[in-house]
Amino acid sequence: MNLNKAYWDKKYDQNKLVWDLGHISPPLKAYIDQLTDKNTNILIPGAGNGYEVEYLFKAGYTNLQVVDISAHPLNNIKTRIPDFPEDQLIHSDFFELKDMEFDLILEQTFFCSLPPEQRTDYAKKMYDLLAKDGRLVGLLFDRSFIDGPPFGGGEAEYRNIFEGVFKIKTLETAFNSIKPRKGKELFFIFEK
Ligand SMILES: C[S@@+](CC[C@H](N)C(=O)[O-])C[C@H]1O[C@@H](n2cnc3c(N)ncnc32)[C@H](O)[C@@H]1O
Repeated sequence: MNLNKAYWDKKYDQNKLVWDLGHISPPLKAYIDQLTDKNTNILIPGAGNGYEVEYLFKAGYTNLQVVDISAHPLNNIKTRIPDFPEDQLIHSDFFELKDMEFDLILEQTFFCSLPPEQRTDYAKKMYDLLAKDGRLVGLLFDRSFIDGPPFGGGEAEYRNIFEGVFKIKTLETAFNSIKPRKGKELFFIFEK
């Protein structure tokens, strides 16, 4: 299976968005709510319909870059948040991003949508995109799936991938997941 632009476009065309919560995920909301610097430069890769983007923007964060390989969800964001700057909606493969540096990158079901053989490249690319002391923060599934995407995993595997690259500040079962994901996702903070 080639998980390319055509694959994701088709998912949006057919409205097969099983991952889409329709709202920001509570663990990310709780994390964002304790941030204080509205100038934080934030990347949301594989943003999909971008509920975190909407939440951040409405909370006064403007240094946001939103990336997706499919234009459909970026257009949905444009429609939902007409004031959101169009040049901050980037239609690109995450791995092609260049000359950018962020204080914070938010992860929400993007990692699990990539072929598992790209996981090491994901960690490296995230490292390259972060400023010194920058943080990659979000959720990772703590379970397996029969057919991916999503592709699952667990704490030991994630430690193995990320430990050599980042300082692992937090990697633990999220206490505030939505009901269907309760006990099955890890909240993490990785620091450069
Ligand atoms: C499972 S969805 C998650 C969307 C959103 N983060 C959420 O949780 O609702 C994965 C998203 O990543 C995008 N995507 C997949 N591979 C990508 C890549 N290589 N670069 C950028 N976006 C990608 C897809 O188009 C899709 O919108």
